Amino acid sequence: MGRERRIGDWLIDRLKLAPVIDLASHKRVPVHRYSVFYYLGGMTLFFFIVQVVTGIMLMLYYRPSADQAFESVEFIMTTVPFGWLVRSLHSWSANLMIFFAVLHMGSVFFLKAYRKPRELISVTGALALFLIMGFGFSGYLLPWNQLAFFATKVGTDIAGVVPVIGEWTLRFLRGGDRVTGGTLSRFYGWHVAILPAIATGLIGLHLLLVQVHGMSVPPSAEEEASQKRPMKFFPQFALRDLFGWTLALGVLATLAALFPWELGEKADLFASAPANIRPEWYFMFLFQTLKLVPGGEVAGLEYEAIPIMLSGVAALFLLLVPFIDAGKLTRGRWLGVLGVIGVLYAVGMTAWGYHSLVPIYVVLATLLLLLILGWVTRREGGQP
Ligand code: HEM
Repeated sequence: MGRERRIGDWLIDRLKLAPVIDLASHKRVPVHRYSVFYYLGGMTLFFFIVQVVTGIMLMLYYRPSADQAFESVEFIMTTVPFGWLVRSLHSWSANLMIFFAVLHMGSVFFLKAYRKPRELISVTGALALFLIMGFGFSGYLLPWNQLAFFATKVGTDIAGVVPVIGEWTLRFLRGGDRVTGGTLSRFYGWHVAILPAIATGLIGLHLLLVQVHGMSVPPSAEEEASQKRPMKFFPQFALRDLFGWTLALGVLATLAALFPWELGEKADLFASAPANIRPEWYFMFLFQTLKLVPGGEVAGLEYEAIPIMLSGVAALFLLLVPFIDAGKLTRGRWLGVLGVIGVLYAVGMTAWGYHSLVPIYVVLATLLLLLILGWVTRREGGQP
């Protein structure tokens, strides 16, 4: 027996890994025309790992105080070897992670992968998505530049409009009445400690449940899947995942190197708000909706509070879809129709917010790419 084999056996024995290996060796991935969607969760996981690694590297130099944050990021970008690249990778990967998490969620909903017994996989996934948006929101302020400072001011102002809990939420987020250095250290705490701890637990549970329940087959592909031999997860599917991750790393590195993330100007708390003030792209649909709402109030409720509360209802709806769809009365096509309307609304508002057709082109290009990859992956698998 080779030395590597002996070390392997020793580790398997001492760590009691036999059941894990058994689970991995028996796991199968169904093959059908929607198989490509099984890669989206793994892709999201890849970007999460990149975030953890690059985030820890940035932490070594970053200083979370109003008089040092901007300068420390400037130092990372100009003096630390490859610091500019690590920061750029972290920023690009954050956006790609949210993009893939949204795609993954969309596929789960449209293919009804959340149905019994996968309700909790869906709930933990939706919570993880809200958390990573929280990562985006808290991380945006950390470089302490002009745009981030005013966007955070506007973002937290929005939370303050909500009746009853608004005032408290605003003070809780800012750590006071105004956005100050105190807000910065608070956001830093959320960004590097609280959110990562919760996200790691949630994503861990999400992945564990996926392993336990295995992959679902969409109702419309059941016949096709029954006619094809499922693929072994290990090593066939895992190697394909790894191939996708390698491609993703290439795309990420290219974006980070060719379009380094900008730093802008240091925040000036007394300056007037810049004209191009805007949130991250995944909050743009809400930002644009709020821009269209006129001032005024009805029955003590500001008009602005209505779309904000509606987004809260939409978030709750996403969490509860597995249970809503399980009800006899509501089962049917209307959930899908509602989903399509929601996507069209979000994409349309985002395009309007940027005064650009790019968001629509991105959606169309993504659909085309998924269609091509879907065609390639459905040809795999032989007779059962
Ligand atoms: C935010 C980070 C997330 C990560 C890292 C993640 C990761 C994964 C991975 C690796 C898988 C197995 C491969 C696959 O089916 O794609 C998976 C499956 C799944 N995920 Fe996620 N996910 C995330 C978010 C979400 C969200 C937002 C939802 C929906 C609300 C969700 C619902 C599901 C469901 C239902 C499955 C099982 C799919 C099936 O059986 O066909 N996940 N996830």
